Amino acid sequence: MKYIVANWKMHKTQKQSLAFVKQILPRIKTKRTIVLCPPYTDICPIAPLLKKTNIRLGAQDVFYETRGAFTGEISPLMLKELNVKYVLIGHSERRSILHENNRLINQKLRACLKHSLTPILCIGETGLQRRLGQASHVLRNQLLTALKGTHKLKNIIIAYEPLWAIGSHTPDTPENAEKTNEFIRSVLAKSSSAATAKKIPILYGGSVTPRNAPSFLKKAAIDGLLVGHESLLPGHFVKIANCAP
Ligand code: PGA
Repeated sequence: MKYIVANWKMHKTQKQSLAFVKQILPRIKTKRTIVLCPPYTDICPIAPLLKKTNIRLGAQDVFYETRGAFTGEISPLMLKELNVKYVLIGHSERRSILHENNRLINQKLRACLKHSLTPILCIGETGLQRRLGQASHVLRNQLLTALKGTHKLKNIIIAYEPLWAIGSHTPDTPENAEKTNEFIRSVLAKSSSAATAKKIPILYGGSVTPRNAPSFLKKAAIDGLLVGHESLLPGHFVKIANCAP
């Protein structure tokens, strides 16, 4: 089963989110798992609309404590009560703009697992790191530090998002993304077991469009897509969700 995850980032007010969901609901015709990650403020109004559908709710971030004096943060319990099932962790914009480091990402990932939320761990190398031949090293490091202290690698999704491909209209090639996903799986196999690693979905993200989505989804090693700007337009998102294969 492949995943199509929409990351709306800081886009859409409540009204706009509601209008979007109403437009796509009758048009989504796929057995894929569809996950919408709206801004926090939009989760509450759209949650009831998604209840009897096969569209799941995700959040774009979470804090690692359940409650307390953490101004501006949202806890796993708050998300669970709103029927959120998935949480993006370590998105590159949070790493670069909000200065999230690997330790914080590890704390957030573990908090998700503790509270039965499925983390979608985002990892990816910069263009320079790729040119210098450091991509494997960077990805391994991001992966292993984020997963530190997690015993059972269950209920985790990885999203490979090369930073240079995000919002750039220059996606990776499906062939490269497939190879990288295979590499990620080999790292997971070493830190758990091949059988466990095989079950972890590894998505691709970075300038996915209705046009290029099929060539990524065709690849056996790509278990789905994390879609940014093209998930904001109902027509484009429906096309990506429904596309063959
Ligand atoms: P993009 O963003 O599809 O706009 O490149 C992807 C992401 O940031 O998750």
